[in-house]
Amino acid sequence: MGTLLEYALIQVLHNFGALLVVGMSGYGFRVALLRQSPSRTLALFVLSAWLMQGLTGATFGWVTYRSDHRFPDIHGIAVIALMIKVSCVCGGAGLMATCLGWGSSWSASRRMMVWAGSTGLACLALTAAAFLRWFS
Ligand code: HEM
Repeated sequence: MGTLLEYALIQVLHNFGALLVVGMSGYGFRVALLRQSPSRTLALFVLSAWLMQGLTGATFGWVTYRSDHRFPDIHGIAVIALMIKVSCVCGGAGLMATCLGWGSSWSASRRMMVWAGSTGLACLALTAAAFLRWFS
């Protein structure tokens, strides 16, 4: 019961994190499309949401390891889906970190590309989540 409750609570954070990366990246993309500059605060929130996805995702594996003394036994498509999710987190967090570091000097089209990139990676991770869920 304890472990199941832990999985459920991690899943709550992970699901809301997914909502935030998709929603806030999409909002930033819309702002950039209007040729305005999404705020640094928004970029900081999206960066935090990406990192939270990585952390809560890894916590799933850690809870399994702690209770079963082994990592989740996944193969094939599930492993590919997991690798895609990890890559999306690295890419999305990287994009937002560069945006925070150098975004103020970017052209409108560069801003658009970066926010489109974060939105696209968030959608890709959400798609991979469905495959991880049903092939593991
Ligand atoms: C380091 C990155 C990530 C890891 C290690 C990870 C890991 C996991 C794990 C282990 C599960 C439970 C799978 C299952 O129910 O069998 C899960 C579920 C889920 N993940 Fe991730 N995840 C990561 C990133 C993301 C990202 C970036 C998103 C979305 C933007 C996301 C969205 C979801 C969703 C929506 C579920 C629930 C799927 C369902 O039950 O139908 N994850 N994730």
